[in-house]
Amino acid sequence: MAFTTTNNDNHLPLKQLPGSYGLPFIGPIFDRHDYFYNQGRDKFFSTRIQKYNSTIFKTNMPPGPFISSNPRVIALLDAASFPILFDNEKVEKHNVFDGTFMPSTNFTGGYRVCAQLDTTEPNHALIKGFFLNALLLRKDSFVPLFRSILSEAFSEIEEGVSGKSGKADFNTIFSVASFDFMFRLFCDNKDPSETILGSQGPKMLDTWIIFQLFPIETLKFPKIFNYLEDILLRTVPFPACLTRSSYKKLYEAFSSSAVTLLNEAEKAGLKRAEACHNLIFIAGFNSYGGFKNQFPTLFKWIGSCGKTLHKELANEIRAVVKYEGGVTIQSLEKMPLVKSVVYETMRIEPIVRYQYAKAREDLIVESHDAAFEVKKGEMLFGYQPFATKDPRIFDDAEVFVPKRFVGEGEKLLKYVLWSNGKETDEASVDNKQCPGKNLVVLLCRLFLVEFFLRYDTFEFETKEAVVGVSITITSLTKASST
Ligand code: HEM
Repeated sequence: MAFTTTNNDNHLPLKQLPGSYGLPFIGPIFDRHDYFYNQGRDKFFSTRIQKYNSTIFKTNMPPGPFISSNPRVIALLDAASFPILFDNEKVEKHNVFDGTFMPSTNFTGGYRVCAQLDTTEPNHALIKGFFLNALLLRKDSFVPLFRSILSEAFSEIEEGVSGKSGKADFNTIFSVASFDFMFRLFCDNKDPSETILGSQGPKMLDTWIIFQLFPIETLKFPKIFNYLEDILLRTVPFPACLTRSSYKKLYEAFSSSAVTLLNEAEKAGLKRAEACHNLIFIAGFNSYGGFKNQFPTLFKWIGSCGKTLHKELANEIRAVVKYEGGVTIQSLEKMPLVKSVVYETMRIEPIVRYQYAKAREDLIVESHDAAFEVKKGEMLFGYQPFATKDPRIFDDAEVFVPKRFVGEGEKLLKYVLWSNGKETDEASVDNKQCPGKNLVVLLCRLFLVEFFLRYDTFEFETKEAVVGVSITITSLTKASST
């Protein structure tokens, strides 16, 4: 198909795509060494933006040889071009959830789960529609269930801080809380520790998730191990059989506990086994994997803003709860500062940084300054932090501004993209936006509300983890007023 200038809505100059894939085999390996070890992710992109004087360019993305047969992508690194990834008429999302490679379906009982399906595959609408509805049916449990889980989690943190060590490991406590919430929500409020999983559910999921993601992660070992790690993680995929026995237990626990949900799935026309493997992926990978990183990230940013913000949050939360007579979904809507800091966290540090999609047809992609031709079948890759920290959209884009989305600032919500869609759009069977979007926002708000009803402020230590951040709480100040 010939490209037409009518595709180029803003009449930007049509330019040749800059960048290079380098020599076959060697190019992708050089690029992934720069990306993981020599430069690091952010610098990898920012140096190339400068070099090519463009926020759109050609590059390779890990893993490359021998795991992905084609590591070539067109990187989109600004808020103007990124949304093409959500246009399901123009792009296809078949098996691209993890990028330029796909972990074996042996990790998921032989099924391609919802996140790997394109919107043109009938199973996508069937499975996604079913889970959107399953969430709707359980919406009245969100607040009471999460509040009771939070109450246990905060008590555990208090025990740690007032105990001998004087510290509490936020991540471990909130991994367990995230798993408990998702398991109870989908499994008729059953306590996961009373199943075959005992207390091992979160650990089993951690291993199962990281084995799928190893080719695109680094364990951040000291520099001298870089080459060894690269060979170990990116030469052949980790076989699913290494997680088979724990996955079997997860399957048994979910299939025997999610009785109502699986009955609903059969009525909706899904095979029970396929529904259960999807349930494990949605509760375990999408939800648990997301929440266990989302809560520490939120807490880190709130913590780093210090006592003044804590006081403002506590004042807002306590006043609304008093006026509304309790914590409800409606009362959470009346807290502009709480809402804004949650969105600001999602803007400044989106949990899932990468989104991939293949051009369904020849098309034109536009940055702020230029238009570029993309051929059918070429892979588009968005590194989200560069889109949501685009200085052409956001003032002080690199700074956490707590009130950014208050009042007029709400107009900027269309540039918050963490859910694989605009914050102003909704997930549906016709798109690939996260169906947990509203639940995630709700739980983040609820987390802050419960925290600042109990405490005035806190102190913490933080360091980078293999995925996300690790938080240790060192002090908590109980609420001086309620
Ligand atoms: C902090 C938590 C979460 C984050 C950061 C997150 C993020 C995302 C992102 C970025 C995608 C799109 C991936 C892509 O195709 O490139 C996605 C898809 C998806 N998420 Fe979430 N998610 C979270 C929680 C949840 C929850 C609670 C659920 C379910 C209840 C869920 C279910 C899904 C499903 C099923 C998909 C695939 C959608 C489709 O195929 O159309 N996620 N999520």
